Amino acid sequence: MSPEPRAVRVHVPATSANLGPGFDTLGLALGYGDELIAVTREAPGVTVEVRGVGAGEVPTDESNLVARSIAHVYDRLGRTVPGLDLRADNRIPHGRGMGSSGSAIVAGVMIAAGLLESDPEQPLKLGEDELLAFATELEGHPDNVAPALFGGLTIAWTTPQGPRFKRLLVHRGVSPLVLVPSFTMSTELARSLQPKHVPHEDAVFNVSRSALLVAALTQSPELLFEATEDRLHQDYRGEAMPRTRDLIRALRDGGHAAVVSGAGPSILVLAGDPAERLAAVELAEEHGSDWQPLILAVDIKGATVESIPVDSAR
Ligand code: HSE
Repeated sequence: MSPEPRAVRVHVPATSANLGPGFDTLGLALGYGDELIAVTREAPGVTVEVRGVGAGEVPTDESNLVARSIAHVYDRLGRTVPGLDLRADNRIPHGRGMGSSGSAIVAGVMIAAGLLESDPEQPLKLGEDELLAFATELEGHPDNVAPALFGGLTIAWTTPQGPRFKRLLVHRGVSPLVLVPSFTMSTELARSLQPKHVPHEDAVFNVSRSALLVAALTQSPELLFEATEDRLHQDYRGEAMPRTRDLIRALRDGGHAAVVSGAGPSILVLAGDPAERLAAVELAEEHGSDWQPLILAVDIKGATVESIPVDSAR
């Protein structure tokens, strides 16, 4: 007898990584995200339907990043991936520094986790460290996938045993704003612009600011401006995104804690209260109309997965 089809629904938040000084380490989950549904089917292979962002652009076969991520989890566990019909309702912009690839990978990991847990023959519950390890294996660094998986502010680091994370609650005054431009930036290109070695004083500068940033984001928003200074990555990448560099300069000249979101080209402003955030929106509007302002909350839940009736998934 063929197995009954099963369905899961996943919600995964957008993220902003680095947050200025916390290169490859700090990340914030944002109240803006993608929703995906996966239904198992008897025939092997995968179909992918994409709605919203990426429709008609991203692959719809097994080379799709969500499908590859699901297959990666099953492979790592030595299990056979079931045939699947996937549907993605996407909102996270691609190539803008809001963690879209990390979120796609996390969506795949969570779909796999939900299907494995509801497997009628061999149910398996994955732990948090496994979820993070599988996602980081595909993404390469853990700073986007950790907040996408667990929500809030995350500190992520790597150990010989794999990636680890600490999740922190963000002070309720902290009011994120993301300014999304119409142009894109490749993370690979951004990473290629960085030197292999940096001056010791720059390393010390960033150690102090990233330690301060954890305090500013969790307890003392009045320190956000100083805490978001960086010397490790933004200046090296600025030439490749001059409009981002110029707007960040103008925002910081106006007293706003503005940084490159992830590898760019979006800008994250960590305002200390909602009024300051609106002032930052107004200042950005003076620099051209093609910066879309996203006034966002911090996502505190991270990615979620739930089993749903197959009928409601179709
Ligand atoms: N920490 C990463 C970078 C984030 O800045 O390259 C983008 O994946």
